[in-house]
Amino acid sequence: MSGPDTCGSQAQTASAPAAIAVEHIVKRYGDFEAVKDVSFSVAEGEIFGLLGPNGAGKSTLIRMMTTLIPVTGGRAIVAGHDVARDSDAVRRMIGVIPQALTSDPDLTVEENLSIYAKLYSVPRAQREKNIAEVLEAVDLSKWRGAQVKTLSGGMRRRVELARGLVHNPRIFFLDEPTTGLDPVSRIAVWEMLNNLKTTRNLTMLLTTHYMEEADKLCDRIAIVDHGTLVALGTPAELKHSVPGANVVEVHFSRETAEWGARLEKLDGVTSVQAESAGFYRVLTSSGSKTTMQLVEMAASLGETLTSLSVQNTTLDDVFVHYTGRQLRDELVKPPAFSLPPRPGAQP
Ligand SMILES: Nc1ncnc2c1ncn2[C@@H]1O[C@H](COP(=O)(O)OP(=O)(O)OP(=O)(O)O)[C@@H](O)[C@H]1O
Ligand SMILES: [Mg+2]
Repeated sequence: MSGPDTCGSQAQTASAPAAIAVEHIVKRYGDFEAVKDVSFSVAEGEIFGLLGPNGAGKSTLIRMMTTLIPVTGGRAIVAGHDVARDSDAVRRMIGVIPQALTSDPDLTVEENLSIYAKLYSVPRAQREKNIAEVLEAVDLSKWRGAQVKTLSGGMRRRVELARGLVHNPRIFFLDEPTTGLDPVSRIAVWEMLNNLKTTRNLTMLLTTHYMEEADKLCDRIAIVDHGTLVALGTPAELKHSVPGANVVEVHFSRETAEWGARLEKLDGVTSVQAESAGFYRVLTSSGSKTTMQLVEMAASLGETLTSLSVQNTTLDDVFVHYTGRQLRDELVKPPAFSLPPRPGAQP
């Protein structure tokens, strides 16, 4: 691909310098290029999401931006400081939640936070106050004396959130903050992050594998694949950038070899994915037209539909579009010159 599909405007303006500016950044491990010439910027107060399949380079990008590993090429400016030249200044301005849980299970919640506050040289008088505030923010005040190993996975994640905030950072990096959490705990973390963004005026950069999370939480999203930035925009811009504004899901009562080809011929259809026997996911620029024609087609053939639904394009569709994952099942619409007769005509 020649470059990312940048959907819409950049959030950075002349009056507000970017909280994070990544410029042509590269990371090589020996001969292997894990991150290839990636550029983006994150505006102050934004929640910015990095999406991508396993091994895409998300954690590597975060590690470079948070000074944990050196940059091979290009540069990253975080809170106005170059990560390579002024790493101490960067570290003072950021909070980091790594992909793996790293709080000490044998220590109490408060002890874990206290160690971090000392590491970040938070003055003694300020420490107590900061710890009380962040524990309140993640709803763990009652558990301050509990050993971390006695807590549930969701609570442990919240300990990590609190720990990452105990020195009052301006920019918060979170690598998969909700992986492994049940849906209720995940939503609780989203609410906390949204509250933190508002009450502490934090800028956040997070990675996630959950499309719903990215959609609900992030102001803008960058999709990374094989170390390259392949798309960048707001969730709405990314959805509009995918051919087909709606997704029609149809389940026929029986499978025939022709369903895929017949669906491709309907008005507005841009792609057809066979999900399982008789079950198809159809991307279309006109959900209503395609649905009407589909019902007419089934009736004229004497076939029954077991289910039919029309939805707007989701971030899952965006992800599939830009990363090519699941494309093996996709049937590509034939070019215009070979278009078959209008729907309704006898096959
Ligand atoms: N220290 C290292 N030495 C060599 N290769 C590495 C190293 N760290 C990461 N890689 C490789 O770099 C690529 C990107 O890894 P990275 O951890 O950034 O991916 P990711 O997008 O965070 O994936 P995941 O979703 O699985 O967390 C992978 O192919 C990985 O194997
Ligand atoms: Mg990772």
